[in-house]
Amino acid sequence: MGISRRQFIKSAASLGVIALAPRAGGAAVARTATLRAAVMEQAIRAGAPRTNFSGFNGSVPGPLLRYRKGETVRLAFRNALEVESAVHWHGIRVPNAMDGVPYVTQNPVQPGDEFVYEFQLPDSGTFWYHPHQSSFEQVPRGLYGALIVEEERPIEVDRELVWLLSDVRIEDDGLQVEDFGRILDIANDGRIGNEVLLNGIAAGAGNVLEVRSGERIRLRLINAAAARIFQLELHGHAMNVIAYDGQAVEPHVLEQLVLGPGMRADLVIDCMQAPGSRFLMNDIHRRSVGPIASFVYGDASPVRRKPLGAPMRLAPNRLPEPDLGKASEHYIMFQGGMRGAPTLGIVDGKPARTHELMERHGLAWTMNYTARHEHALMHEPFLHLQRGEHVVLRMINETDFVHPMHLHGHFFRVIAVDGRKQARPVWRDTVIMGPRQTIDVAFVADNPGDWMYHCHILDHAAGGMMGTIRVT
Ligand code: C2O
Ligand code: CU
Repeated sequence: MGISRRQFIKSAASLGVIALAPRAGGAAVARTATLRAAVMEQAIRAGAPRTNFSGFNGSVPGPLLRYRKGETVRLAFRNALEVESAVHWHGIRVPNAMDGVPYVTQNPVQPGDEFVYEFQLPDSGTFWYHPHQSSFEQVPRGLYGALIVEEERPIEVDRELVWLLSDVRIEDDGLQVEDFGRILDIANDGRIGNEVLLNGIAAGAGNVLEVRSGERIRLRLINAAAARIFQLELHGHAMNVIAYDGQAVEPHVLEQLVLGPGMRADLVIDCMQAPGSRFLMNDIHRRSVGPIASFVYGDASPVRRKPLGAPMRLAPNRLPEPDLGKASEHYIMFQGGMRGAPTLGIVDGKPARTHELMERHGLAWTMNYTARHEHALMHEPFLHLQRGEHVVLRMINETDFVHPMHLHGHFFRVIAVDGRKQARPVWRDTVIMGPRQTIDVAFVADNPGDWMYHCHILDHAAGGMMGTIRVT
């Protein structure tokens, strides 16, 4: 007896294969795109010497992928690099086999080979893509791009901008400094570039945007830098945050927006000044160097005299709500780094020194390290969760460093910071943990598979702040 079509679709789905509805049914057909990674050159500002990058489809950032919520995409990755690679879809709740993590969810894609990713887009929001292999090198070389999933009913704005922020470490001749993976960067703040890039163009003078009086702009910000934390402010204009990491929040005004590597924020800006005026977006850490971008009001007559009255609130995605009453509790303790008390875990009942561990395992950071329970093997799961388990994860940062911690395949609510319950716990896929801070997050482990959990300062991930959480 043959199986019914319905059963077939069910079993195909359980294998992570997406059954495509036939055209005749009028249902959606996969949207396709090809991402080809190769070395390339591009000048970061007009007249500057060309910089050697690796890029997708010949540009940094790679192509802007834009779809609607619920669509199925088929994205072919062609590896024209000389090294192995793969593509990870940061923030998208994909089936595990589509997560793009070499040696965990797939084999690395060899030079000259291709891998086709196919998945549905369950959530609207601002996402991005990047390799997950030697990412501390491949990402800052230029392999990153934005993936936008539109809401079923987008909010009303006059214009939408997608800004990928990053940086690059280059010499005067424009060439990238070939110093990826230095232990000094790994054990400190990560490898930080000397030029900030906004969509591949040097921040500052190169990024002048003309706005019209009365205009409402939706700005989607993505931090694609390997290590740089941005702390952004906007002069004379309110930054209304409407989403973090792609997930809707109650719109609120921020004085400063902290955006660690991997993190996103959607802003709404009402440009209500008079024609001829100008304003800046600054990173407070580099105010003296120059702005991230400048906005100039053009002469054109105002779009409107009063701010647009339309609502800013986005319809939330459907995420599985953790029930704290029945959640199991787990903790992860982070130690390491080259600042402060240089101890790192317990070995034979005694605190171990950072340099001993670095010698023994090449690690600069550890998560829940003891001599008996080493997870120096970063791809061995260090936490096993039952499918459907409600989880509170307490993250204890015993280091003197900031770490943006990212979990694949799930979103979590940030429920407490240093024991203080958050009145409105936001959904995140990456949460920034201050030095010596403790953060509690809660989620439902509803997506089966091996999921990476790591610091998005990519040098830290390479130096030990990366592990796998297994959901079965
Ligand atoms: Cu943006 Cu594990 O990655
Ligand atoms: Cu870190």
